[in-house]
Amino acid sequence: MSPQLPDGVAWPSDGYLDPHLVGTPSKNLALYIHVPFCTVRCGYCDFNTYTVGFGQGADKDSYHHSVNKEVRLAADRLRPFNHEPVKSIFLGGGTPTLLRAGQIGQILQDVKDNFALDPSAEVTVEANPDTIDQAGLEQLARAGVTRVSFGMQSAVLHVLRTLDRSHTPQQVPRVVKWAREVGLDASVDLIYGTPGESLTDWKTSLEAAIEPQPDHISCYALVIEEGTKMWAQVRRGVLAMPDPDDEAEKYELADALLAQAGYAWYEISNWAKLEDGEAAGSTNLRHASRHNLAYWFDWDWWGIGPGAHSHVGDVRWWNRKHPRAWADALAGGSANLGARSAGAEAGIAAGLDSAAAPRPLAPLASPAQAGEILEESDRVLEAVMLRIRTADGIPISSLSPQVRGRVPVLIDEGLIEEAAAGAGIVKLTLQGRLLADYVTRELTV
Ligand SMILES: C[S@@+](CC[C@H](N)C(=O)[O-])C[C@H]1O[C@@H](n2cnc3c(N)ncnc32)[C@H](O)[C@@H]1O
Ligand code: SF4
Repeated sequence: MSPQLPDGVAWPSDGYLDPHLVGTPSKNLALYIHVPFCTVRCGYCDFNTYTVGFGQGADKDSYHHSVNKEVRLAADRLRPFNHEPVKSIFLGGGTPTLLRAGQIGQILQDVKDNFALDPSAEVTVEANPDTIDQAGLEQLARAGVTRVSFGMQSAVLHVLRTLDRSHTPQQVPRVVKWAREVGLDASVDLIYGTPGESLTDWKTSLEAAIEPQPDHISCYALVIEEGTKMWAQVRRGVLAMPDPDDEAEKYELADALLAQAGYAWYEISNWAKLEDGEAAGSTNLRHASRHNLAYWFDWDWWGIGPGAHSHVGDVRWWNRKHPRAWADALAGGSANLGARSAGAEAGIAAGLDSAAAPRPLAPLASPAQAGEILEESDRVLEAVMLRIRTADGIPISSLSPQVRGRVPVLIDEGLIEEAAAGAGIVKLTLQGRLLADYVTRELTV
């Protein structure tokens, strides 16, 4: 969640992806589009977002023009890899709904003009409940959005105040109802463990989230990120640090109430509303978020926008973090390609030489800051870490032989399911979900 970018190696300024370095790409492709604007910076949040704009291409009114450049760059550099049509587009933030619906429509049109889009693609927009009305939701649906993810966080006023949220509890059921009326799937995000939140407050929030029957609910334990206003408040003793036992109790309550209301957990923090005939116990659910699945199941994805991360096969890179630096790099266009930047030279030194490109590249510049080439062992480790968090679990055969002997011990400790293990799959129990980091360490060291 931290916006601090790793160092990595410098990346070619034309964004060329060398097939030898990419290795075997995924067939599936997802796009993430970051919108780095918010009205207010919430005290707990350290996402890459700003309450001001930064001029042409890096402020709200002109942002879609810079996005257009990176969409074209992505389509051109990904073309040799023959992905299947895009199955998920996610506009996240920040607050994407601070853009006009027409701008979001233009961004989606640009994607359709440059990529093949799967007819059943999931197209999600994140929205703060006080930044959208019924007409706006209708415009989003007409523009091709299929799903809205609302940042509800809590239904209790004092908790929302501690989190510096600008919306009221009453706004959430209204926007969820409107979204569903215009044919959009609706998801809500909740946060538990906010300083001063009682178990009763949390129960109130869960019941309020369930009441309008959204298609999907995410529950995140509050993370006090270093450098945030809330971090400073905790350090000064103004707010108490979240208590792990309290958080565990709140997670158990969430799981019980959500299951009772017909929601199935499919990843530690995510629950999907079950459709008729669907059963809990896997990620194969109509309302499971494809955007989430793309991360957990190692799809390729291109992250557009300042600070956004991308991943294709064995290579991973991340964009310049500041919106101005990102927009300026994209605006460099063919000029950058004639006179190689220092970044490109370093990229060449690292073996990422765009001179080796087998075909002419469209004259577009990359906003990447740096990147890395993943080792096979890194990818295996990451796959275990991510997939073990899902209701599909992971095949025991995919664990290294040195750690397989720990499976019976984890069963005895009540952290993984005995029946699933008998069928060759490691699946977390409810207690295992609470101790997922420990289980992951045991199965990867
Ligand atoms: C980055 S926000 C963007 C959505 C939108 N701007 C909003 O806040 O309503 C996405 C979600 O991340 C979660 N989130 C952000 N910071 C968090 C933190 N420090 N701890 C736990 N969850 C966090 C919140 O639930 C939020 O809805
Ligand atoms: S509105 Fe969302 S993205 Fe913006 S500061 Fe708050 S949590 Fe972060």
